[in-house]
Amino acid sequence: MAPQTWHYGLVAKWWAEFNKDGPEIDYFRGFIERDGQPALDVACGTGRLLLPYLRAGLDVDGCDVSEDMIALCRERAEREGLSPTLFVQSMHELDPPRSYRTIIVCGGFALGSDRAQDVQSLARFYEHLEPGGALVLDNEVPYANSRQWQRWLREGRMDTPRAWSDDDGERRGASDGSELALQTRLLGLDPLEQRATLEIRARQWRDGEPAAEEVHTLDIGLYFKNELLLMLERTGFVDVLVQGGYEEREATAGDDFLVFVARKPSYPRDEAY
Ligand SMILES: C[S@@+](CC[C@H](N)C(=O)[O-])C[C@H]1O[C@@H](n2cnc3c(N)ncnc32)[C@H](O)[C@@H]1O
Repeated sequence: MAPQTWHYGLVAKWWAEFNKDGPEIDYFRGFIERDGQPALDVACGTGRLLLPYLRAGLDVDGCDVSEDMIALCRERAEREGLSPTLFVQSMHELDPPRSYRTIIVCGGFALGSDRAQDVQSLARFYEHLEPGGALVLDNEVPYANSRQWQRWLREGRMDTPRAWSDDDGERRGASDGSELALQTRLLGLDPLEQRATLEIRARQWRDGEPAAEEVHTLDIGLYFKNELLLMLERTGFVDVLVQGGYEEREATAGDDFLVFVARKPSYPRDEAY
């Protein structure tokens, strides 16, 4: 089954309009600068990380499963006179035009894909890294959101699917004069399969009047640290570090986002033994 994400239409527009900063940008950039180029930004979205890297002259390609996100990323890049290599592809079928010293995945792993596809994605990253290259992949821990964490318990799941709240969500002004708002709700959580299903409602207003409404679903795989470590090691990655908080430090139990820094073995070095 094709991965099902919600980054289309008005949701893609929201990303292009409002998601342009964050600590991830400088953090991931450090790996590209240190571990080398070329780099691939997998699930690059509308270019929150990619565009600053291109502006800085780094050699980075981008791919994403959503043609809407890629189209907006390309539009933003072209507006600045940049012409990156961008392609629409699901990460489990990754087949890029070249291999990379660094592959980054920020906020994109296990979105909409099933477990077998996630395993396949890791194998694709490994295959398309140069020997000695690094995969830098982040993942939100399943216990990051206290309300969602309660749904792991049987009694905590009694009120799912959740109703839409009466609140429209924060309305924000877009560059075309329209206003946009997003709301999400949890449809269900399966602790056995470690999956949460969420729905997003995106609404647009023009001149104060409702103009459009879209609903999309997203099925997310929920992974714990040690599980991802095992998956990376089974893929063949070595020297795996787990950092936290988009800082160059070891992860702690207080971190909502973990970053796995995993290396493809450097064959020439191994052959020397
Ligand atoms: C939360 S956004 C993050 C975008 C960007 N990396 C950033 O940090 O701004 C997640 C992105 O992952 C993409 N995505 C979801 N599933 C994917 C898949 N199976 N393969 C490639 N991209 C995927 C979505 O289309 C979306 O653009």
